[in-house]
Amino acid sequence: MADPVSPSDTRRLMMTSALPYANGPIHIGHIAGAYLPGDIRARFERLSGTDVLWVCGSDEHGAAITLRAKNDGVTPREIVDHYHADMQAAFHGLDMSFDHYSRTSSSKHHQIAQDFFTTLLKKGSFEVKTDAQFYDPEASQFLADRYITGTCPKCEAPGAFGDQCEKCGSALSPKELIDPTSTLSGATPVLKDTTLWYLPMGNHEDWLKEYIEQGTFNGQPHHDAQIWKAHVTGQCRSWIEGGLQSRAMTRDLDWGVPVPVEGADGKVLYVWLDAPIGYITATMEWAEANGKDWKDWWQSDQTDLVHYIGKDNIVFHCLIFPILLREHGDYILPTNVPANAFMNLEGDKISTSRNWAVWVTEYLNDFPEKSDELRYVLASIMPEQKDSEFTWTDYRERVNNELADVLGNFINRVLVLTNKYYDGVAPAFDPHSATEAEHAVLEALRIAPARVGNFIRRNRFRDALQEAMGVARLGNKYMTEQEPWKVQKTDPKRTEAIMHCCIQVAANCSILLEPFIPRTASKLQEALGIEGAIWNTATPEIIPAGRVLTQLPILFEKIDESIVEAQLLKLHASRATEPESEIPPSKPEMTFEDFQKLDLRVGEVTACERVPKADKLLQLTIQTGLDERTVLSGIAEHFAPEEVVGRRVTLLVNLAPRKIRGIESQGMVLMAESADGSLRFVTPEEGTQPGDIIS
Ligand code: MF3
Ligand code: ZN
Repeated sequence: MADPVSPSDTRRLMMTSALPYANGPIHIGHIAGAYLPGDIRARFERLSGTDVLWVCGSDEHGAAITLRAKNDGVTPREIVDHYHADMQAAFHGLDMSFDHYSRTSSSKHHQIAQDFFTTLLKKGSFEVKTDAQFYDPEASQFLADRYITGTCPKCEAPGAFGDQCEKCGSALSPKELIDPTSTLSGATPVLKDTTLWYLPMGNHEDWLKEYIEQGTFNGQPHHDAQIWKAHVTGQCRSWIEGGLQSRAMTRDLDWGVPVPVEGADGKVLYVWLDAPIGYITATMEWAEANGKDWKDWWQSDQTDLVHYIGKDNIVFHCLIFPILLREHGDYILPTNVPANAFMNLEGDKISTSRNWAVWVTEYLNDFPEKSDELRYVLASIMPEQKDSEFTWTDYRERVNNELADVLGNFINRVLVLTNKYYDGVAPAFDPHSATEAEHAVLEALRIAPARVGNFIRRNRFRDALQEAMGVARLGNKYMTEQEPWKVQKTDPKRTEAIMHCCIQVAANCSILLEPFIPRTASKLQEALGIEGAIWNTATPEIIPAGRVLTQLPILFEKIDESIVEAQLLKLHASRATEPESEIPPSKPEMTFEDFQKLDLRVGEVTACERVPKADKLLQLTIQTGLDERTVLSGIAEHFAPEEVVGRRVTLLVNLAPRKIRGIESQGMVLMAESADGSLRFVTPEEGTQPGDIIS
């Protein structure tokens, strides 16, 4: 069969999926972004006999992890050990068929990453620069990009990180942030000199331009399965057009791969240098365990390297990693980087910090044995070209109307009728008795494998699934129209023809749908006696007459409306109220003794006036129980003097007096500031008297 995009037999396919950060559980957005597409492709390629390898692993370095450890009051090691196991359980539960799953905190990986760095160092790929970096004077440490938040210079959203604004997606450098704040202490960071190794990305613009437009730089004939997605090329193009800045490849941090240079204590490799090398480490581990040569997969022109990732990873896989691989010299470059966009959830962005997510292990708890249902829905709405949205109502509709009513119903009718009419034995079929209807069905089966396969090779998984489900739909419709249950009474011979066709459709479904819903496929193949069937056995004549078919329980249960409601309730109930990033982090801990130094009292404002030539200041006269004193407060833009007179306030009475505009302020009035910047008095409850002690 002519197949325009089938790679030649000798080619290998090296596939990777983004190493997930080991700092939180896996949610459906991760799965739809980088793992399910990888799994569908890998399963398909294995079924097709391609020499394919698919690796992944936990990304255990980087500031996201140290930050999480800090917040939880545990070590980074404890965090990564926990999530390494947790993520593997999630992947396992959804039948992700990685050939190898590794982790970047292993000593093997440290060594590989260090060797890689050393090679580049010797080749002169880096620029060493001593430069001012943000330093937290209170926490006494340099701040990784992720440790700095501020207002995004591009979209003005608050809470942007030093490396990226999650609101508008812009990649940032910390110095661009407006009003930068250290998330460690809340302090304003200061600039301090440190030595870093930079990758001068600007030197690589010319060949990168060609590389991303052509999709290949390996001298390979360019075939259309390797055309990059428009949104991927577009993002790369705009990065390059914006001018590529040098990027530091080391960080001042105590968690990560130590920089293998003498005197570089306290410095580690940039996580985006070490993590993609994790793909190579994973391949080496796999090769070692299987008696293979890892170089076949990374250093051979016969290999296509394909990275499955989410769109926030594009620059790292399409620009930075290719530069590193090319600088090293021995490696092939990625052939394609079919990044997916994001999947939203019930009208909002999925967010770990706001707990707005469907967590995979929770799903599997709530829906045991329903991994295929989730895989099916996520593949149907995969954000291949643009963002998509998961809703529980849509989940229910797809499970009920497509899996249960079409696929499940069809398979059930085929098995039940075969059992009823023929004691479960597949009937014989005389091709001469075939009518137009049978010809149409058998022709559809003949072309389906190539059509589904071509879509999968082009990373068009939604179309591929549609095409494969189209076969089930066709079978279901054919059966409904032919009504074997009626024909059987008058023309048993004709019924045999109908049932023969239906059985072939069922068998083809079990193969064509295997990459998407592998559990169901394998149950079905077992019932039909075609376990381990491979892609090109999907033909109009898979099941011979005389084959004994066994019965199957209902394949897909219907999802009740109440289940949707329960999931929605759960989702909303667990939602964190405010986005974490907009709440300033808490200040460093203080002791009880520190606190006891504060002398807070109830005061009453007896007079108030504006301070001449000071827009923000009001001068308050306050009865403290001890005395009557003058306090200046920066609230003139929020309150008129008349609004303040007569109020009871919370007053810090033992603050050292300060002279402002020639007036001595003898204390401080406590105010509450909301996220929107509005100010309110911290008013002691009714019944308190001036002089009451607050403690
Ligand atoms: N940990 C990164 C993320 O979750 C992905 C790393 S991909 C790798 O966004 F190539 F660096 F491994
Ligand atoms: Zn922004």
